Amino acid sequence: VRRLQRGVAAWIEDRTGIGYLWRRMVSGTNPTQGAWLRTTGVTCLVLILVECITGPILSVYYTPSPNAAYRTIEAIEQNPLGHFLRGLHHWASATLIILAFLTVARMFFTAEYKAVDGRRRDIVWIAAIVLTQLSLVFQLTGHVLPWDTNAVKTADVEAGIGGNVWVFGPIIKRLILGSASTGAATLSRWHGLHVGLLPLLLIALVGLPLLAHRLRGEDKVAEVRSDSAEGLATEPYYPYHLAREMVVALVVFLVVAGMAILVRTPLEKEATAANLEGYTAMSEWYVLPLHALTLIPPFNTVKFEPIVTFLLPMALFGVLFALPFIDRNPARSIRRRPAAAAFGALTVFGLVGLYGFAYLTEKEHVPAANAPGGPAVPAAAVPSAASVAAGEKLYKAQGCDACHSIGGKGGQGGPDLSHAGTQHPEHAWQVAHLKKPDSKVPGSTMPAYGQLKPAELDALADYMQSLK
Ligand code: HEC
Repeated sequence: VRRLQRGVAAWIEDRTGIGYLWRRMVSGTNPTQGAWLRTTGVTCLVLILVECITGPILSVYYTPSPNAAYRTIEAIEQNPLGHFLRGLHHWASATLIILAFLTVARMFFTAEYKAVDGRRRDIVWIAAIVLTQLSLVFQLTGHVLPWDTNAVKTADVEAGIGGNVWVFGPIIKRLILGSASTGAATLSRWHGLHVGLLPLLLIALVGLPLLAHRLRGEDKVAEVRSDSAEGLATEPYYPYHLAREMVVALVVFLVVAGMAILVRTPLEKEATAANLEGYTAMSEWYVLPLHALTLIPPFNTVKFEPIVTFLLPMALFGVLFALPFIDRNPARSIRRRPAAAAFGALTVFGLVGLYGFAYLTEKEHVPAANAPGGPAVPAAAVPSAASVAAGEKLYKAQGCDACHSIGGKGGQGGPDLSHAGTQHPEHAWQVAHLKKPDSKVPGSTMPAYGQLKPAELDALADYMQSLK
């Protein structure tokens, strides 16, 4: 039996070299200091594996069409195994986002993006940052698949934010939605990204670079030299550190599995027109800081919003990407890197502050907006006939009737406005809505008319109020 075993092993090794690859992968030595913290990367890998196994199984039972998607998800939820797999997929993805960001934070604060003895590790750093971004895009695209009220409203909100970017807004919005508003094209687009393009990007931009880096094998040796020069204790990667990584990955997996069983995986009502009526979506936790920024003046206006939704994230990630190339300070301890420490602290405190701010504002904002009855409607001032007539002209000139109909005439892209003045009699509401529709109707896909003159907005609002 021994001989046979050895024969089979040799046969496989001869043709694949898999044993050699494995020895290379686990070769090298690691410093023992902070070793437990350096286990999150492999845990991310295990979580990605969980997604890659549960995702295709779920997709077998899922239909990406607005008419069928919700019902297929309901059917999956009714089956105990389906419920478990969907839970695993959901909670593992959330955990992945958190761990990917924690990994980047650790690499940042312990200067792991810096070269050791002239051996560059920038590729590992960049792969980790790309992983945080991809995990977010996976989450955003996956969120729409159940086609429940929250999915559709969230897609509207994201498209609205994209649509407000200067100059390119309309193109971006069209790219995101696949058509003028959230619908079947949006679902097939996001589904295609989620199950096809993004996994390929993950392999190409994160998996392959990390594998190649690992197989190169020499960094570890170099690390030992520089670390032992600093008098740090080290140990062989295999089996000590590998065991540590497996323990952490196992614990995280068990927590995720526990949540899949015990916590209800979110699923709201189906996204029918009736269910969406008057529905307000709470921002999802992973986009909360960004949404919180759009509530702070002056960023709550169409003109300045892209500063925080577009420029700021671009700048932040631009700096992070470039870090290994621009940070020439050879020190590794955060105490001897004042600029990096300030940048890191600012980012972390900024995030924590935004979460706190968002928590407070959403808490008071959302239930009030959703409450039946709502605040008492103030008596509307009677608009002048001239202003109403001017508004009616503008209504045609601005092409509002492409989407809206009045008295049965006009487009179908937006709600019928025959009784717009009964629905929202307040002048201030109409003006604010025209300036920035999603400030009044979260997730609104109506274009903003903030570029109009105040007098024009007043006239349009008067005309709207006159429609009883
Ligand atoms: C691209 C399509 C589109 C265009 C163009 C458009 N709207 Fe809208 N409009 C919508 C959508 C979608 C909604 C529903 C979401 C909302 O209430 O913001 C809406 C909602 C409204 C509402 C609120 C209806 C209600 O009482 O619930 C008013 C009023 C309105 N639009 C007026 C206008 C005016 C005035 C113009 C032209 C200056 C205009 N719209 C141009 C798509 C459009």
